[in-house]
Amino acid sequence: MRPTAEGPIDVGALRLGVEDHGDGPTLLFIHGFPLDRTLWAHQVAALAGWRRVAPDLRGFGSTVAPEGGRRIATYADDLVALLDRLGVRRAVVVGLSMGGYVAFDLVRRHRDRVAGLILMDTRAEADGSDARMARDQLIALARSEGVRAVGERMLPRLVGHSTRQTAPRLVERVREMIMRASLTGVLAALEAMRDREDATTVLGDIDVPTLVVVGEEDELTPPAVARRMADGIRSAGMTLVPGAGHLAPLESPAAVTRACAEFLASIREQVA
Ligand code: MLT
Repeated sequence: MRPTAEGPIDVGALRLGVEDHGDGPTLLFIHGFPLDRTLWAHQVAALAGWRRVAPDLRGFGSTVAPEGGRRIATYADDLVALLDRLGVRRAVVVGLSMGGYVAFDLVRRHRDRVAGLILMDTRAEADGSDARMARDQLIALARSEGVRAVGERMLPRLVGHSTRQTAPRLVERVREMIMRASLTGVLAALEAMRDREDATTVLGDIDVPTLVVVGEEDELTPPAVARRMADGIRSAGMTLVPGAGHLAPLESPAAVTRACAEFLASIREQVA
């Protein structure tokens, strides 16, 4: 058995913070904005029988952000380089929100590396003009007041109302996660998301097993948006997670892990 690895891995000029646990077909976990790999703590701990690879994207968690690279493609290329470095040919890609945008880019440009998809609390559409304006406002806020101010602006909509009412310690964990992000990383990601390509055109080309997961209380990528995305993908399943907002894997970890485990068991023969 391969030993568990937790620590930085050099990928080109980048030193990526990565967890790499277990054996079996690979799951590649891609966190959302402005978070880090600890978003997936429950799934990474629980999904035995699979190799679970969870990196911090550049500028987030323990991965330092070099200047530049303000494109979703940059994150995708970092992850392909990571898979190469780990000797992994194909992975089931599990992406939440911005992680979903990166997953769509992997499908678009590195199709042969994607064995399956779990798309969580994300959307295929590009930013419209209002969303682009909101990004510019957040960029200005980040520049003038820093990462903490961005986090405080976002927090109320990142977690669902049930979590806000009943789990203050979890909200605090999310706040701490956000504070591990660097200003450079936050600015680069906001620009990358603002300028990302529309992925609705990619949906019809997805021919790998796919599960869409969304928190019932997700205000940023609501269930109707997830439903539309799932409907665009040939034979995608969809799981609605009660009591969770935008951060379903953290807010309702057991339910999300169960949904992933059932889906993964059903596709194991195809992706092994
Ligand atoms: C995320 O969770 O990654 C962000 O909310 C995505 C976005 O702002 O579009």
